[in-house]
Amino acid sequence: MTGLKASVGSPYARILSVGSAVPSRVLDNEQMVQHIDSSDEWIRQRTGITERRWIAEDENLETLSLAAARQAIERAGLTASDIDAVLLSTVSHFRQTPALAPQLATSLGIVDAVAYDISAACAGFCYGLAQAEALVRAGQARHVLVIGAETLSRMTDVTDRATAFLFADGAGAVVVGPSETNGIGPVVWGSDGAQADAIWQTESWEGAVESGTWPALGMNGRAVFKWATGFIAGAASRCLEESGVSPDELDVFIPHQANNRITDTLLRYLKLPEKVVVARTITGYGNNSAASIPIAMESLLSSGEARSGQTALLIGFGAGLVYAGQVVTLP
Ligand SMILES: CC(C)(COP(=O)(O)OP(=O)(O)OC[C@H]1O[C@@H](n2cnc3c(N)ncnc32)[C@H](O)[C@@H]1OP(=O)(O)O)[C@@H](O)C(=O)NCCC(=O)NCCS
Repeated sequence: MTGLKASVGSPYARILSVGSAVPSRVLDNEQMVQHIDSSDEWIRQRTGITERRWIAEDENLETLSLAAARQAIERAGLTASDIDAVLLSTVSHFRQTPALAPQLATSLGIVDAVAYDISAACAGFCYGLAQAEALVRAGQARHVLVIGAETLSRMTDVTDRATAFLFADGAGAVVVGPSETNGIGPVVWGSDGAQADAIWQTESWEGAVESGTWPALGMNGRAVFKWATGFIAGAASRCLEESGVSPDELDVFIPHQANNRITDTLLRYLKLPEKVVVARTITGYGNNSAASIPIAMESLLSSGEARSGQTALLIGFGAGLVYAGQVVTLP
């Protein structure tokens, strides 16, 4: 033996396509304040949200994921047999095992795919994108389907004034594949487990069995806000630096859709010029965690506000606490 062979990948990777799917059921703020002491005006002012999408009876995490994934595969000009890895970022798959990604792969007609779930909350899509880029460049997969999907309505306590108005459902997907030029910059990512209690599941599954209480999401909104407008602003700035992109060279900014006031603060910190197109899908869709960035990307491209080939900064952040961001070329 002359030594172990190593896999040989592509010099670069890029996002080939994006797809999305949102539930059919629309809930406006008036509907949300029926169970909490709040108002349409407060929710609009403090978050930017005017309405959100929650799943209807015939929709679930799987149907949304499949719809977004099918659109992304078709738009890449590929078929199921071209995809060799499926990564699903979600915190709302309510089965500890098996993961949902292998079942999605099979439903999509992808045979023998590498398939696993990623639990990185609102940073989940950017975590998945970083892994997809690395898999393609390392030669461990050729075309990777990355799905960010959530049904957070199933984990929302509609009587909790701190969260009821915020969380929502949806799915977005991209196909990442080999490229002659670089389309995905270095990822900037990390975590801080000391802040595990900033956003959390109110009961562990064991606790839920003992108490008979279905778990919901809990959140210390002020702590998350402070972290997102402080530390995350610095991380977003590092994404630009590490990709060698100046604020003037950026075309599009797609932060996780957590709160329009967080987005405004990030914009001021990064000193992005006015010409930069900024994602604001939280207004109509709420905070749908791992789905928010690909849904926003798809929405900006299909509305014509952003164009294929433009340079976009993505940054996701959420429960863990965890974060990840990268500069990409839009598909
Ligand atoms: C949740 C969030 C919108 C709350 O806004 P906020 O300005 O921080 O609100 P505060 O908790 O400081 O409360 C401010 C006031 O609003 C009131 N308030 C809190 N929730 C309210 C609600 N749902 N409706 C009306 N009033 C509310 C408070 O009682 C307080 O009143 P006071 O000034 O008379 O004491 C905000 O903290 C936030 O968006 N945080 C980040 C959340 C996030 O991004 N989570 C997901 C990350 S993935």
